[in-house]
Amino acid sequence: MPQQPPTYDRVAPYYDRWMRLFERAGLARLRAAALAEMPGGGLLIEVGAGTGANFPYYPTGARAACAEPSREMLLRARARPERPPGAALVRAYAERLPFADATFDAGLATLVFCSVAEPARALAELRRVVRAGGRVVLLEHVRPPGALGYAFDALSLLTVPLLEDHFNRRTAGEARRAGLTVERVESRLLGAVQLIVCRA
Ligand SMILES: C[S@@+](CC[C@H](N)C(=O)[O-])C[C@H]1O[C@@H](n2cnc3c(N)ncnc32)[C@H](O)[C@@H]1O
Repeated sequence: MPQQPPTYDRVAPYYDRWMRLFERAGLARLRAAALAEMPGGGLLIEVGAGTGANFPYYPTGARAACAEPSREMLLRARARPERPPGAALVRAYAERLPFADATFDAGLATLVFCSVAEPARALAELRRVVRAGGRVVLLEHVRPPGALGYAFDALSLLTVPLLEDHFNRRTAGEARRAGLTVERVESRLLGAVQLIVCRA
């Protein structure tokens, strides 16, 4: 299986503090926009839920499974005061979700597909566990177009060995190849961040 948990186990104590700057600079608004795409009722799955940074933006009364492979990240998600009462935390990799086909009405991942070891497999898993026609929303940093893309290729040479963080993933294309229907892609920060709205 993938090797990520040790990295995020180490990062977990600092993660929310490090992210605070990005949250204030616009990430919090993007999280709210991603969660606004989720249906109000039904059962959701979030993969790579981390410390539960999306919990404040979950629809009221949400019922969800929040999958995350890092024990330390999960512990912080469990302790987060905004955790919806209907959100169950599950220790699992996105590449191998312990759920039957079509269990969920919608799926979510934010800042996850830069980290997963096997994005194609993880996207196929999301498609499998979300019912046909259900919404899958991804908020991801990706390889931007043009010359900047080459800079991100170079950056990845550092960030992959240090943090297992790929700055040059083409997540919308991967989602299409996994059989998801990509309905809309909204690009921010010169195309380095994308809100990708799909149907399973
Ligand atoms: C940058 S953090 C994002 C956390 C959270 N989604 C957020 O928006 O703050 C990346 C997360 O992906 C998780 N992750 C890494 N590899 C994964 C995998 N194969 N399956 C699911 N989650 C994974 C990490 O443990 C970590 O919690």
